Amino acid sequence: MIVTAERFDRLTPAEVQSILELAGAASDTDGAFPLSEHVVLHLRHGGDEPSVHLVVRDDGQLVGYAHVDVTDPVDGPSAELVVHPQHRRHGLGRSLVKAAVQVATEADPAGRLRLWAHGDHPSASALALGLGFSRSRVLWQMRRSLFADVPEPVLKDGVTLRPFVPGQDEEAWLRVNSRAFKDHPEQGKWELRDLLLRMKEPWFDPQGFLLAERASELVGFHWTKVHGTLDGEHHHDPIGEVYVLGVDPSAHGLGLGKALTAAGLRYLRSRCLDQVMLYVDESNVAARSLYTSMGFSRWSTDVLFVRAQY
Ligand SMILES: CC(C)(COP(=O)(O)OP(=O)(O)OC[C@H]1O[C@@H](n2cnc3c(N)ncnc32)[C@H](O)[C@@H]1OP(=O)(O)O)[C@@H](O)C(=O)NCCC(=O)NCCS
Repeated sequence: MIVTAERFDRLTPAEVQSILELAGAASDTDGAFPLSEHVVLHLRHGGDEPSVHLVVRDDGQLVGYAHVDVTDPVDGPSAELVVHPQHRRHGLGRSLVKAAVQVATEADPAGRLRLWAHGDHPSASALALGLGFSRSRVLWQMRRSLFADVPEPVLKDGVTLRPFVPGQDEEAWLRVNSRAFKDHPEQGKWELRDLLLRMKEPWFDPQGFLLAERASELVGFHWTKVHGTLDGEHHHDPIGEVYVLGVDPSAHGLGLGKALTAAGLRYLRSRCLDQVMLYVDESNVAARSLYTSMGFSRWSTDVLFVRAQY
């Protein structure tokens, strides 16, 4: 079967809706939503970043989609893709990856492409490895119940907690975020725009964005998030998330990570949620052991495939 992916710089609202429905159908089948939060935000809100959308249709129905982000000159282009469960094993995935490689090659002289697969499915691995990609990074989703015990946060060294205040705390938060995530491939690079975009989301709740201060200096934070209540796009029960947790290197060793985690979990429990999830790099042994000690265990896995450079 010959499959051609159409290429667009912009999508109509109806196409965006079809892509989100396609992603929802794949999520129901695979048990993992195939697009990242970043891509969903971009689809819903647009923005000034030039992304390329690749679309495959069958009889007018949108059955395959790839999002190619060509804005990162440091790590090179990245892509995510999904094929409708009833249209798989007909070469659509392969043709979307090949089209994404073509887009990436035009944007990046080294011909690099990073491919994210949400859920560690054999189909994604077989497709990516078969086209010359290799596994590079593995991200765990961890979960725990909020019915189980959450310890009382223990704050040492005069540290106090308070909620984030919009219009006041943005710059200080960006500073600590970049110091806490200095070696993180994505989180440490956030700029004001990245923060403001999320503050505009319907789920944003400053009361659940906890800041830890010592002598009026921000030294850590726990930004929680609630999925599935306000935005009407989720088809599952509400669930809390440890969205971003960071401690400034100057305050490591005080037990602040544990105290902030506990305070955030207690906040999520006060919102009547019964479960909480988070993402952590499989290679981040320190964070994994913190979360394991706080009762989390692995729920699912996301894999980053990279294309060998030519
Ligand atoms: C992964 C995905 C995109 C594959 O789409 P697809 O249209 O079924 O893939 P193709 O038909 O183009 O398959 C290309 C090759 O991938 C491999 N492959 C795909 N699905 C497979 C499966 N279930 N088991 C084993 N190999 C598989 C095969 O080598 C196949 O070639 P073949 O059919 O000639 O044997 C699709 O399953 C999907 O949308 N999954 C959820 C989202 C996701 O994981 N995206 C990340 C992709 S890296």
